[in-house]
Amino acid sequence: MTTTPRKIAFIGAGNMTQSIVGGMVRSGYSNELIYVSNPSVGKLQLLQDKLKVHTSQDNIQVATQADVIVLAVKPQLMAQVCQQLREQVPNLSDKLIVTIAAGIRIEKYRQYLGDSIRMIRVMPNTPSLVGQGMSGLVADDRVDQTDQDFITAAFNGVGATLWVADEDQLDILGAVAGSGPAYFFEFMASLQKAAAALGFDADKARAMVQQTALGAAEMAIASELSLEDLRKQVTSKGGSTAKGIEVYQAAEIDKISAQAVKAAVQRNQEMAKLF
Ligand SMILES: NC(=O)c1ccc[n+]([C@@H]2O[C@H](COP(=O)([O-])OP(=O)(O)OC[C@H]3O[C@@H](n4cnc5c(N)ncnc54)[C@H](OP(=O)(O)O)[C@@H]3O)[C@@H](O)[C@H]2O)c1
Repeated sequence: MTTTPRKIAFIGAGNMTQSIVGGMVRSGYSNELIYVSNPSVGKLQLLQDKLKVHTSQDNIQVATQADVIVLAVKPQLMAQVCQQLREQVPNLSDKLIVTIAAGIRIEKYRQYLGDSIRMIRVMPNTPSLVGQGMSGLVADDRVDQTDQDFITAAFNGVGATLWVADEDQLDILGAVAGSGPAYFFEFMASLQKAAAALGFDADKARAMVQQTALGAAEMAIASELSLEDLRKQVTSKGGSTAKGIEVYQAAEIDKISAQAVKAAVQRNQEMAKLF
């Protein structure tokens, strides 16, 4: 990482924090600058043993020393955790606040933490847990470029990052990249079942589906061609792939994806109202 080092505190040592902190340390960020708090000791011990970061069961202790606070607890605990920070952390408004919780809007954090905070919302997705995440990020207008660069570098440790213009776009990104792994698993499972129905055992069917998905994703990333052109490249006229593609197109796969993404966006917006 080439950005100016800052002390960063993670509140909550769950799966996401374990991955992000691991990614930061692997990319060369000093473990001396990373603090993590969590109520139970087991996850803290794991981080201490593996990554030698500072750990504590006290949120206030880690947040007070940090320049950047990452809120990484479940959304339903956020109000309670923020209230504790607001009451007990001095100079909260000097610190950059980052949240990875789904659904809670910046406006709500202003109510929780005070009007003067500056903040970034990050929407990571589950493949971040294996270093192949797609994180969407949005900043309020008090955040400057050095803040953005710092957080981009932190999340690049678990995959790719994409800044969006506003929180509505983050809802859309959530419906594509956040929910997307489930869509791909659904599609992959359907191909696995199709192979199994024709006589393959489930393990072999799964092996061929998952390696094909990985190969297609890597080709898409490596190529400058559009996804449509890549598809055409592997579809000879009159061949077997063309026959298969005809079936998907007849089922209007574009329409299905559009409906799925719209439904997920709508649900993201409904859930935001719960907080
Ligand atoms: N996992 C994903 O794929 C994913 C994707 C996008 C966004 N997110 C968001 O990321 C956040 C963290 O997710 P996760 O998967 O890492 O969840 P997780 O594994 O359940 O971790 C949450 C952690 O918060 C700790 N915690 C509970 N109460 C706390 C408190 N008062 N103060 C400090 N820590 C507390 C829990 O500790 P104990 O276990 O000891 O109670 C747990 O270690 C969530 O808001 C989630 O919506 C996750």
